[in-house]
Amino acid sequence: MRVWISGASSGLGESLARELAARGCHLAIFARREQLLEKLRSDLVAAHPSISVIAQTGDVRDRAQVHAGIREAEGRLGGIDLLILNAGTGDSLSPEKFSAELVERITAVNYLGAIYGIEAALPAMLQRKSGTIVGVSSIGAVRGFPMAAPYCASKAALTSFLESLRLDLWGSGVRVITVSPGFIKTPLTDRNRFPMPFLVSSESAARRIVDGISRRKREIHFPRRLTIPLKILRCFPGFLFDWILSRTMRGKGYRKETGSPATPAARRPFG
Ligand SMILES: NC(=O)c1ccc[n+]([C@@H]2O[C@H](COP(=O)([O-])OP(=O)(O)OC[C@H]3O[C@@H](n4cnc5c(N)ncnc54)[C@H](OP(=O)(O)O)[C@@H]3O)[C@@H](O)[C@H]2O)c1
Repeated sequence: MRVWISGASSGLGESLARELAARGCHLAIFARREQLLEKLRSDLVAAHPSISVIAQTGDVRDRAQVHAGIREAEGRLGGIDLLILNAGTGDSLSPEKFSAELVERITAVNYLGAIYGIEAALPAMLQRKSGTIVGVSSIGAVRGFPMAAPYCASKAALTSFLESLRLDLWGSGVRVITVSPGFIKTPLTDRNRFPMPFLVSSESAARRIVDGISRRKREIHFPRRLTIPLKILRCFPGFLFDWILSRTMRGKGYRKETGSPATPAARRPFG
């Protein structure tokens, strides 16, 4: 299996690369931090000498860099069977410090970055009538959670896009899988200063994702103790959702009236 994965320099992406390498996959790992990627590449080839690993330094916001990375992986690995669109970022947005720049940055990484990857890899997959596209979204896509508007909106866009694409590709031989995790312990969530129920390790998350891909699931969501209640919450009418969230946030570092964090340390509720 030949895999291209974005955001492999840390957190979930790094754990996914380690898990896939342990299962004998050839990898192209893409992210901005060159040293971390190089270190991961040398660890992986030392531990699994039979696999090929290509480290690619690039920014998913740059369409040409994403295309070049995927072209190189197709050339050097002989094709891509599994495309994992994992690169992501997040930050809190308070009404007092509203910034469209922040929204643009998060949208460019979490949503458009994934679209560039699909644009680059899909033609060869369609031609071969095989391939799997995996988008790492978030359970935060199910509703708009406080202080996380740019993150939730970018992940909702990605989830929705992948759902349409899955239907558009029906019968083409190309599968689309959406990953909707709850909280995972990574550098992204290490900054959070609020309780993160049912936090899972990035190694365990990577195992669940790779197992879900092998089982050809259409959506991979975990931990179910968190994701199932949140999926149910999606069906609630708006007034009930607002009421539940205002109760839940009370006493958790959020101001009662606005839902804004009482201290700068309180951050978005999703990773
Ligand atoms: N942690 C959670 O609780 C959680 C929950 C649900 C979903 N997720 C999703 O899981 C994915 C991985 O997040 P994580 O928690 O593992 O966070 P992380 O440790 O901060 O990793 C994010 C990865 O994305 C890469 N990245 C960020 N901006 C990039 C850019 N412009 N171009 C290329 N690569 C970029 C980073 O690499 P460089 O900085 O080297 O570029 C890094 O490898 C994200 O899509 C996130 O939204 C995480």
